[in-house]
Amino acid sequence: MKVKRIPTGIPGLDKLINGGFKERSINLVAGGAGSGKTIFAIQFLMEGLRNGEPGIYITFEEKKEKLYSDMLAFGWDLKKYEKKGAFVFLEYTPEQVKRVLVEGGGTIDTIITKIKAKRLVIDSITSFALLYKDELTQKEASLALFELINKWGCTAVLTSQETENGKVISPALEFEVDSIILLYHTKVDGVRKRGLEILKMRGTKHPSKTFEISIGKKGLVVHEKMLKF
Ligand SMILES: Nc1ncnc2c1ncn2[C@@H]1O[C@H](COP(=O)(O)OP(=O)(O)OP(=O)(O)O)[C@@H](O)[C@H]1O
Ligand SMILES: [Mg+2]
Repeated sequence: MKVKRIPTGIPGLDKLINGGFKERSINLVAGGAGSGKTIFAIQFLMEGLRNGEPGIYITFEEKKEKLYSDMLAFGWDLKKYEKKGAFVFLEYTPEQVKRVLVEGGGTIDTIITKIKAKRLVIDSITSFALLYKDELTQKEASLALFELINKWGCTAVLTSQETENGKVISPALEFEVDSIILLYHTKVDGVRKRGLEILKMRGTKHPSKTFEISIGKKGLVVHEKMLKF
């Protein structure tokens, strides 16, 4: 059976990945501070909202008012969709998410069913992963989380904060997600440049290059030019 592809909403990206994310897949977007993870995640949700697919944004870090006003710069009116009942912003502590895992869904379950969410974002997964001390419990927790996301039937984007030396905090996650997209904001000849690399995507033929990206008036755009490090 042919899997349905879910457009990412990022111009230039879908044509590199067979039309978008696989329906119901779990996709990790990893990068350093300010690399564009939150913009990517909201742009993905906005694409759904504009096309009648409700979405939920779960965060441990971002503040609602600030995020809403920052995103307005790209013309993304989250408040409007929230009022329509198509979008929910959920500020959770990692402990609350931990409880949701133990309860097997809890409050998030109710919200997802109520708004009929098709797209889900967790921004970022890093502080959640840090709750678990060793790799085994971390792996168990991420499996439980993935099972829940599967149950909810959403296509998901999880963001992950990369450390200074380029390591993703939770190695357990890397093996379990369906795709990993890396965002770069690196210095080339004294100038910071942005890039995007598709590190892996199950069942998808994709390029192995790192492409230049930019953040403009409508958000992130992937260019055809290769990023030269
Ligand atoms: N309206 C805008 N126009 C152009 N560039 C912008 C605009 N708003 C933000 N940016 C750029 O995007 C960066 C922030 O992107 P974003 O918040 O998505 O990064 P992040 O990876 O989520 O960062 P963090 O790790 O801090 O959460 C800013 O540092 C700035 O360089
Ligand atoms: Mg962010």
